[in-house]
Amino acid sequence: MSQALRKVVFPVAGLGTRFLPASKVVAKEMLPVLDKPLIQYAVDEAVEAGADTLVFVTNRYKHAIADYFDTAFELEHKLERAGKRDLLAAVRGVLPAHVRCVFVTQAEALGLGHAVLCAKPVIGDEPFGVILPDDLIWNRGKGALRQMAEFAAAENAAAIAVEEVPRSDTHKYGIVDAAAIDQRAGVIRHVVEKPKPEEAPSNLAIVGRYVLPGRIFGLLEQTRPGAGGEIQLTDGIAALLAEQKVYAYRFEGTRFDCGSKPGLVKATLHFALQDPALAQVVREVVAGEG
Ligand code: UTP
Repeated sequence: MSQALRKVVFPVAGLGTRFLPASKVVAKEMLPVLDKPLIQYAVDEAVEAGADTLVFVTNRYKHAIADYFDTAFELEHKLERAGKRDLLAAVRGVLPAHVRCVFVTQAEALGLGHAVLCAKPVIGDEPFGVILPDDLIWNRGKGALRQMAEFAAAENAAAIAVEEVPRSDTHKYGIVDAAAIDQRAGVIRHVVEKPKPEEAPSNLAIVGRYVLPGRIFGLLEQTRPGAGGEIQLTDGIAALLAEQKVYAYRFEGTRFDCGSKPGLVKATLHFALQDPALAQVVREVVAGEG
């Protein structure tokens, strides 16, 4: 996998039940952290990693994501006429000109592995990235996917982002057993989806960033439903381990699980505290004066 990473898949066809009733009509990925939807943070990270083709795996309720990345002629025209250059730049800046979006549908939410498999006709046989937009990863330096893409290219291997989680939470994640994992990266020996704490091989959890070879599609095609009756990406990766090196990669950065309410609140506070005017608002609210 020494090729550069050109394509990134965003599986966004989940039901987002933790944000019902809002997610009845607002795709979870369109929930904002301040003035940007989650999907924008994910796209920015993919573009920074070198991607020029973004593949969104959506469902029939998620038109807003395509609309968001489309050109808004009328709005742009109005902003232009009103001389609102900053706002115009913000609207036009959602996607650089050299980047193209491809939308594929997952007719039924059969699992993350199945969602990734839906991108096969667009990806073909080259290495690609996967970003789950509800895992928002912030870093002062290089983005998480760029760190992983550079590592995977140098090692000619696949890379999966991992992070330590409390043992009591292992049943929410794919958990890896990896060699020399006190380092930045270690070869994965074994991976299991959503193990009970007493059965988990470690407390290193897979989080929403992957650099994978095209070979994963053939393996996902043979993957049967696993945990929760869904076709799990983790099970496809377990099959990949038998064929090639797959590294667990401890990225540099802070992850916010924005698929959950506490995570979305934390991310919002984190970004607000970086803006002096909003930081003051946060302090006032916390002090009970807001
Ligand atoms: P989640 O486990 O967070 O599920 O999916 P969800 O449906 O989005 O949200 P909850 O748990 O009901 O609140 C992890 C990622 O996999 C995608 C989701 O969109 C999310 O990015 N996914 C999951 C699919 O695209 N298709 C699926 O069939 C399942």
